[in-house]
Amino acid sequence: MIFHSILTNWYSAHKRDLPWRTSKNPYNIWLSEIILQQTQIKQGQPYYEAFLAHYPSVHDLAAASETAILNLWQGLGYYSRARNLHFTAKHIVENLNAEFPKDYKSLLDLKGVGDYTASAIASICYEESVAVVDGNVYRVLARFFGIDTPINSTEGIKQFKVLAQSLLPPSNLGDYNQAIMEFGAQQCKPQSPNCDVCPLISSCKAHNTGSIKELPVKLKKIKVLKKYFNYLVMDSENEKTVLEQRTKKGIWQQLYQFPLIETPTAVTEKEFLSHPEFSNKINTPYNELTLFNSSDIIHKLSHRELHVKFWILKTKNAPKNAIRWSDITSYPVPVVIERFINNFRI
Ligand code: ADE
Repeated sequence: MIFHSILTNWYSAHKRDLPWRTSKNPYNIWLSEIILQQTQIKQGQPYYEAFLAHYPSVHDLAAASETAILNLWQGLGYYSRARNLHFTAKHIVENLNAEFPKDYKSLLDLKGVGDYTASAIASICYEESVAVVDGNVYRVLARFFGIDTPINSTEGIKQFKVLAQSLLPPSNLGDYNQAIMEFGAQQCKPQSPNCDVCPLISSCKAHNTGSIKELPVKLKKIKVLKKYFNYLVMDSENEKTVLEQRTKKGIWQQLYQFPLIETPTAVTEKEFLSHPEFSNKINTPYNELTLFNSSDIIHKLSHRELHVKFWILKTKNAPKNAIRWSDITSYPVPVVIERFINNFRI
């Protein structure tokens, strides 16, 4: 049997009885799909029912106050979704004669409707031949076809959409799309899938190669840490400055830099002057302090984002450890400092 027939047969026998499954009204489907992006079906169902009870049509939702909508949304999180819901309801009533767009492409123009929601509405309400790809679909396809392209990479998103599209049946698009999602949610579950009773088992690549646990592959998003670097650039009357060598393990180890004061957030001049390290680093009287770059220089590294300020400190004398500006190019420095030197000493 073909892939789509196996799934729709399975769906007929195992689908859950859910309130939006008896409807092909785009308002109901839109509402259910937006809510289900926030939560699992079990938790989402009461929200769907409450929204429909309060606002049975797009007119009612458009006429509601934002506060009332946000109240009803409470607990789902990500409140911009609720605001988009309201915005789109008003847009449909005011500009589209209260009618939902009737195909995938024009559904995409609605605020808050992306590829997934447009495909769900277009296939369920209008039987349009567009594949839905949600987390469940990624899992079913990655396992069945043994695909290890990361599902959250640009390449993966494209590859899975093309594959999902190629598997669509000639008819019953809405049922098929819901079948593959439901199959992912109930049968091909993330942890402990029910492989023992799976109708796809004989051709499932992941099962046959023992890689169910490894698929789908998802790239870990590295958290980018922001750091605030304040470099103190001494500029003495006899044309000297001070460099220090970075000894700390990690970025730029052994390279030279102007004396650095790291702060937890961006600082103003006043805050900088009262920073306890400021007087520690400056052991010579100074005439004035000015900020060289009025907005922070942003220097991106793989998992760091540096916000850099260069503070120029004019001094009469130079401390003992000072070096001549004319010798500065003999010291290896990070590129962000090299760029500053090139701009400062022109
Ligand atoms: N998850 C989100 N929407 C769904 C739908 N319409 N059917 C099955 N699972 C879903």
